[in-house]
This record gives sequence, C-alpha cells and structure tokens, in this order.
Amino acid sequence: MAKSSAKSVFFCQNCGYESSKWMGQCPSCHEWNTFVEEKVPERKAGSARRNTSGNRPVKLNEVSLESAARTTTGIKELDRVLGGGIVQGSLMLIGGDPGIGKSTLLLQVCRNLAANHKTVLYVSGEESVQQIRMRAERIGEISDSMLLLAETDLGAIRENIEEIRPDICVIDSIQTMFSGDVASAPGSVSQVREATGILLMIAKSLNISIFIVGHVTKDGAVAGPRVLEHMVDTVLYFEGDRSASYRILRAAKNRFGSTNEIGVFEMRDTGLAEVPNPSEYMLSGKPEGASGSVVSCSLEGTRPLLIEVQALVCRTNFGLPRRTAAGTDYNRVNLLMAVLERRCGLGLGNCDAYINIAGGIRMNEPAVDLAIVLAIASSYKDVTIGDKVIAFGEVGLSGEVRAVSRAELRVREAGKLGFDTAIVPSANMRQLKQIEGIRLVPVASVREAIQYILKS
Ligand code: TYD
Ligand code: MG
Repeated sequence: MAKSSAKSVFFCQNCGYESSKWMGQCPSCHEWNTFVEEKVPERKAGSARRNTSGNRPVKLNEVSLESAARTTTGIKELDRVLGGGIVQGSLMLIGGDPGIGKSTLLLQVCRNLAANHKTVLYVSGEESVQQIRMRAERIGEISDSMLLLAETDLGAIRENIEEIRPDICVIDSIQTMFSGDVASAPGSVSQVREATGILLMIAKSLNISIFIVGHVTKDGAVAGPRVLEHMVDTVLYFEGDRSASYRILRAAKNRFGSTNEIGVFEMRDTGLAEVPNPSEYMLSGKPEGASGSVVSCSLEGTRPLLIEVQALVCRTNFGLPRRTAAGTDYNRVNLLMAVLERRCGLGLGNCDAYINIAGGIRMNEPAVDLAIVLAIASSYKDVTIGDKVIAFGEVGLSGEVRAVSRAELRVREAGKLGFDTAIVPSANMRQLKQIEGIRLVPVASVREAIQYILKS
C-alpha cells in the first residue's frame, strides 16, 4: 500500500491549538470538546528555503508613504475604529455572532464605496445574489460599480479577483470558503487558515483591501475567527445584544491604528445607522426619581460614554441570597457588596441584589465601581439620587475611592448632557479644573459618598 502523504492532526476549533491526539479540554483556551480531527498534507522538505520572490531588503527611510493612503468608508464610526479609513492592500477581519449585522455593515460599506467610483466585489458563500439584492433594497440605492459573486471555491474567487482587480473585496464568510488543496471540510481550522493565507497573498500582491467576515460560535461547530487573528492586519468585533438594537464595533487588533476606539451603531429596518452621540442614546428612557439608579461615565478608548447603573436590593425570602449582574462582572459586584457590608455597615447579607447596566451594554471599567456601590446603597436605603448627578471612581477593598484616568473628559461629557453635579475621587481633584456649570463633590471613601447621597 502506498504511504499516505496526509497526516492526521487534531485542532481546537475555538483557538486553533494543534495536537497529535484528541483531548477533551483544550490546554490553550480551556474550552471543552472542541477538538476535531483533520488531515493535513505533509509539506515537502526544503521548499521554504529557496528565495523565489526575489525580494531584497530596502532602506526604511526610502520606502514611500504613498501606498498608506486611506480610503474612507463613508461611515464615520467605522472609519474611526479602522484608524481613519481603509488602508489599501490590508486584510481586515470582522467577527461577531451570527445575525449581529456583519453582512449588513459590509454591504453598506460596499454601497458607499461604489458610489465613490471604487470597484467593489462582494463575494458571498452564504446567500445567493438574489438574497443579497433583497437586502440591498432595504439599505438603499446601489450604483453599478458594485459586483456580486455567489461562490465558495477560492480558486474561482481568485481568478475573478485577478480579472476584475477590484479596489475592495468582501468575503462573506470565511467559514464557507474552501480551497481544493486542503482535504478537510469548509469551516475547519485547516480550511480557514488556508483560505486566509490565499486571501492574504491576494491582498498583498494585488494591493486590494479585503474584508473577511468570520462568525463567532460558542459550540465550536466551525472554526472561530481567533484562529486567524494573527494572520490579518485588523480584527474588528461586532458586539451587542441581539434583542437590543444598538451594536458596538471594537478593534481587537489594528496594525494601522489604535485598538481603543469603538463605533456605535443602531440596527434599524433600513440597515445600520451611526449613533454619533452614544451617551444620549444610552441614557434615553432613564427613570426619573427612582431609587437604585445612578449615572456613571466609562471611557471607551478616547470616548467617554455615560451609562446608567441600576440596582435592586430586596430581602431574601428563603435560602441563599441571589445576586445577578447583567452588563458587568459578577465577581466584582460581589466584592463591592462585601465592601459595603464591612466598611459601611450595610446589612446586605440577607438581601438579594440585581445589578444591571441599562441598555444591555457591557462595562468592565473599574471607574464604574462607585456608581454600582451608590446604586446598591440607594436601593437598599430607598433614597433617590438626583437626576443630574453622575458618579465615577474605582473602589478599593478598604472602601477607599481611587483615582481614575481622564477625569476631566468624563466630567465634561456629563456637563454636555446637562448634568450639574459630579461625585469624583478626591485624588482626581488636582487635575480637575473648575468646569463650568458642574459642581464637583470630591469623596475619598465610599462612606463619604453614601453620606453625601443621604444628605442631599
Ligand atoms: P446580518 O447582517 O445578516 O448578520 P450577520 O451577517 O452578522 O450574520 O444581519 C441580520 C440581522 O439584522 C437580522 O436579524 C435582521 C436585521 N436587519 C435589520 O434589522 N434591518 C435591516 O435593514 C437589515 C438588512 C437586517
Ligand atoms: Mg451574514
């Protein structure tokens, strides 16, 4: 019998960890039951040693900057996350849960670019051209320099790209693409890697910007975008609650910009709309004069975002007290409740507590601590905190309120939205100049902050 040239390898479908035997739990990402066997052809020895490209080293200061010109996508929120627009020849990955709006966003980008006389090729392995047309109808008019291709074979896609030479190409989604050179099924780790490798070569050799859509799945049925994060230039993740209408775009990696920026969108029936003032959006619907509701300011990258923290504390009816935290870290909430109990004498031991960040957004910045603590205290004591008060600060284990970064920016954002009082860490007072129209209440400990809300 001829010796088979393919060897068997087991891959973690979540993070791409490679192993020669099957394992129940991945040692790299600790996910369970994610290993799948794949056949990988053995590489010929020595093929990587020859220089076939003829590339030679060049002097760094002689490299021209021209190729780094950026193309705007026509969507400001996306441009900002990308670091100012699309860099020609870059490979960008947009990841997110199925149905979050990746295809919709990219179709809108394609539409804007096509209207700007760019040649755009939208390759879909998920939908037929009729289905894409139907979606496009909802979004608006499309100019004729936008081309559609329903194809999953990368060989055919490559030929089309080489012939058309588009400026921008979208691959929706990487998990449906396959290359004939790899034996395993589409969506497996080796296929996804191979496909990305081919797209990387196309992007760099033909100087075409390529967007790749990657689904994030929890059950590990298809390889997640994490296995190809290291190969692409930019990784953007689309997050949000599918039941809530807003969506947040975050950069997890960006070779051409900062990863601190976020873009906020709202899903409407005509596609995704930008939300230029997210604070206003997050605070819409805030109840007036209700106890247990405190507004805080979290910093998302360079952008301050006002959010409402809600708490409901009530007596436990039987057994162990229940605690839940939606939108923030459960353990952090437990820690803050312990601080309240020990340092401020609140009898929370036999109380249920439910904490929620309104709007379904996730906030893990420690600066929100003080607002969580005040919301719990406000609900426990059933006192309301004024509608025009915001609070931020990190809470330490001894009940101290610690300084946070960029306090002035946070206070200014609150001022812009009509807040008139800010409870801030006293350690931040030195950097805080008097800001017009806003009264600053410096607090050094949680106890002081609670005393302030009880008095006012
Ligand atoms: P889609 O872009 O298909 O998600 P993905 O490509 O990430 O899987 O988004 C589909 C969801 O968006 C779907 O639930 C319907 C909704 N949607 C709207 O609410 N309005 C619209 O105009 C469009 C096109 C989709
Ligand atoms: Mg889609």
